Amino acid sequence: MYSEKVMDHFSNPRNVGEIENADGVGQVGNPKCGDIMKMYLKIEDDVIVDIKFKTFGCGSAIATSSMATELIKGKTIEEALKLTNKAVAEALGGLPPVKMHCSVLAEQAVKAALLDYSKKNGIEIEQLKDFDPDEDVHEH
Ligand code: FES
Repeated sequence: MYSEKVMDHFSNPRNVGEIENADGVGQVGNPKCGDIMKMYLKIEDDVIVDIKFKTFGCGSAIATSSMATELIKGKTIEEALKLTNKAVAEALGGLPPVKMHCSVLAEQAVKAALLDYSKKNGIEIEQLKDFDPDEDVHEH
């Protein structure tokens, strides 16, 4: 049912933990199951130089957050905003359809952390204008 990559990222998740004095912190919850994810970003000159996450959730949520952090580390804010849950699931070799909603958590948590960063620094990020971290999760 799960690809080898999903199993790998679930058993050995990358970038787990917290960042002290993070530049952006985002937390989102999945109303479908009650799982929670917290994402920490360190940003220098518009580049995400470090990223860590903590997930209180299912295996698919852990695997997708792990993969999402790997894909985003070293990227610019602009590039990170383009990361969709679908792209993360694809990078993992796919997820069972009933588990696609879990991957949304990772995408939302990254956006929530970037929103926090923009608020703290008085920057407006165009793509996040209509983003509401408390809104129900949507698959993209
Ligand atoms: Fe909750 Fe997967 S079942 S995120």
